[in-house]
Amino acid sequence: MNESVQTAIADQIREELYSAYFYLSAASYFESISLTGFAGWMRQQSQEEIAHAMKFFDFVHDRGSRVVLQAIPQPPYEFSSPLDAFSQALAHERKVTARINEFYSLTVREQDYPAQVLLQWFISEQVEEEKTTSQLVEELRMVGENSSALLLLNNNAAARSSASATPTT
Ligand SMILES: [Fe+2]
Ligand SMILES: [Fe+2]
Repeated sequence: MNESVQTAIADQIREELYSAYFYLSAASYFESISLTGFAGWMRQQSQEEIAHAMKFFDFVHDRGSRVVLQAIPQPPYEFSSPLDAFSQALAHERKVTARINEFYSLTVREQDYPAQVLLQWFISEQVEEEKTTSQLVEELRMVGENSSALLLLNNNAAARSSASATPTT
């Protein structure tokens, strides 16, 4: 495998694991303010990010290479409100999307077709991630200071996270 592609994969594995860390940190915040539905949603999201990292991890071995894992930075732990937590999640997902797109350009330049096929899955996945997260941001904006509406959203998030509790790939 091309060295620049290999480095980009190692970077992306770190990024996906950082995402898992980020969502886990947000899950802890929601647990601490007793919004367990949102906590479950964040926890589920964290699991999905680990699965993303593993897709890249397995891909490297399928191509006969090995992975040198990098350090994972500390995620944010200060969230001022549920809206702030989901807004930070959305900003993060947008950054990930930009990275994936850049990575795809690299594989085009390097003519790495198998990596392009793998990244196409991630390009679609990012569309989903941004859609789901921005919808929650919008809903939380509408809720404002209304705690009954917030609890309703929290319960909906609980239903969503238990509906998708089966491991996804
Ligand atoms: Fe991801
Ligand atoms: Fe994500």
